[in-house]
Amino acid sequence: MQNDQVTPKETATILELAERCLPVAGDFVELGCYRGDTSVLLGKLLAKNTLACGKAVENLCKSTNNECKTSAQAVENPCKTPPRHLWIYDSFAGLPDKTTEDTSGAGQNFQAGELFVTKREVVEKIRRANLHNVIIKKAWFDDLADRDLPSQIAFAFLDGDLYGSIKTSLKLVAPRLHEQGIMIVHDYNNPELPGSSRAVDEFLRAHPEYRLQVRHTLAILRKS
Ligand SMILES: C[S@@+](CC[C@H](N)C(=O)[O-])C[C@H]1O[C@@H](n2cnc3c(N)ncnc32)[C@H](O)[C@@H]1O
Repeated sequence: MQNDQVTPKETATILELAERCLPVAGDFVELGCYRGDTSVLLGKLLAKNTLACGKAVENLCKSTNNECKTSAQAVENPCKTPPRHLWIYDSFAGLPDKTTEDTSGAGQNFQAGELFVTKREVVEKIRRANLHNVIIKKAWFDDLADRDLPSQIAFAFLDGDLYGSIKTSLKLVAPRLHEQGIMIVHDYNNPELPGSSRAVDEFLRAHPEYRLQVRHTLAILRKS
């Protein structure tokens, strides 16, 4: 089924930038996974990369006349980073309440409880996609503790729609983002969800070391 939350062009941009982060150390995260449609694509990208690295080690091992007992003993790992995980987060209770920063003349959508999906549905989707590299966390972003996040992040997709959700996501992810990592925030300049732009603009004022690039309704944030 077509993803009704992210356009095909946005999905292509997300995947292009996520792929660029494959050589960067750290895990991938998605805050606000909803049905897990983008999560499956990101999980597959990471899994494909891990498989390709595994093959490269195997081939190097063969080229050393099979002297190695295990690929790990035989050759230095040619992959720039070890296998990584995709961590995905959602309340699995739909959206929280809007705040004044989310007030929009563009409509009354996105009320509390909208976009409800069960965790079980997403777990099933990840299982059907045969992905073993995805960690699924059910929580309000405000309740996430240190141990709920990877220590280093290479790529982040922040898609919590509302001001408070994006603000918290940026607060959680930025200190863990690798110097060469990328954060993408959805709904930038989306008149229906003005809270997303507000949270991003506030973040940029407080963190001038980040530069902003906008593609479609994606705010792309990076330091380098
Ligand atoms: C637009 S949907 C995400 C779409 C998904 N990224 C995709 O690409 O298909 C937004 C999701 O964020 C979740 N969400 C928003 N604010 C949240 C918060 N503060 N804590 C936890 N989940 C939140 C909602 O439950 C909803 O599932």
